[in-house]
Amino acid sequence: MNAITQDGLAARFEHARTLVLEAGRLAAAMRETLAPIETKSPIDFCTEADHAVERLLRDDLVARFGDGFIGEEGGGEAAAGVWVVDPIDGTAGYIHGTSRWCVSLAFVLNGRIELGLIYAPVEDRLFLARRGHGATLNGKPMRVSGLAHGAAPVVECGWSERRPLAAYCDVLQKLTRDGMEFRRHGSGALGLADVACGRNDAYLELHINAWDALAGLLLVTEAGGWTNDFLAGHGLTEGNLVIAATPQLRERLLAVLS
Ligand code: IPD
Repeated sequence: MNAITQDGLAARFEHARTLVLEAGRLAAAMRETLAPIETKSPIDFCTEADHAVERLLRDDLVARFGDGFIGEEGGGEAAAGVWVVDPIDGTAGYIHGTSRWCVSLAFVLNGRIELGLIYAPVEDRLFLARRGHGATLNGKPMRVSGLAHGAAPVVECGWSERRPLAAYCDVLQKLTRDGMEFRRHGSGALGLADVACGRNDAYLELHINAWDALAGLLLVTEAGGWTNDFLAGHGLTEGNLVIAATPQLRERLLAVLS
């Protein structure tokens, strides 16, 4: 593959912003006639829509740009330029008919997240970020909260069976003791997007996969927030701890986790 220039990134961003809408609409349409559900674990599911949306994204992006592709359902290999995709993040919420699910699409170039796109079709919220160009929600620039609301900080805490429930409960207890509120809505990508737009003050999860996190992480940093170095080590292929926050909470959250 030839080196990808800023023009190449701009072309990918322009195309992906249309494609992510198409992908979200496909998933929403397929929700009308929910097809048989695969059970990956007692709390982890996959639907026909997860496969169909990932196929749409993989076929389009690989054919058009010749980039690498890693998807939640079909896997893939790391590459210098690679799309990292969750076709439906928050599948359990999707199955239950909530609005807390989205399509999440990130492009990583030489180990740095360059593009992040998240579309939540039911809420019709389109989050976009390109490294160095800021972050938007439905076309309007967005910023992290800065705790300007003056209320107790709200920290969304994700959990999956990849980490013991006791460790998760311990984090919730420590947050509460430190005067912070916690929430869990079932989509890590949207939880991070909500940090970027100021609805959450932070998002924290002891282990999350790259396809759930990368787009949201770029949204947060481009919106003025702080995140841990998620891609350190084998974050891209094995996942990692994720912390993303308005900068005012950085030390308090690190203390909770220490
Ligand atoms: C899950 C969600 C959940 C997070 C888990 C993820 P999925 O992804 O993002 O909020 O806590 O770590 O696995 O299975 O809905 O795509």
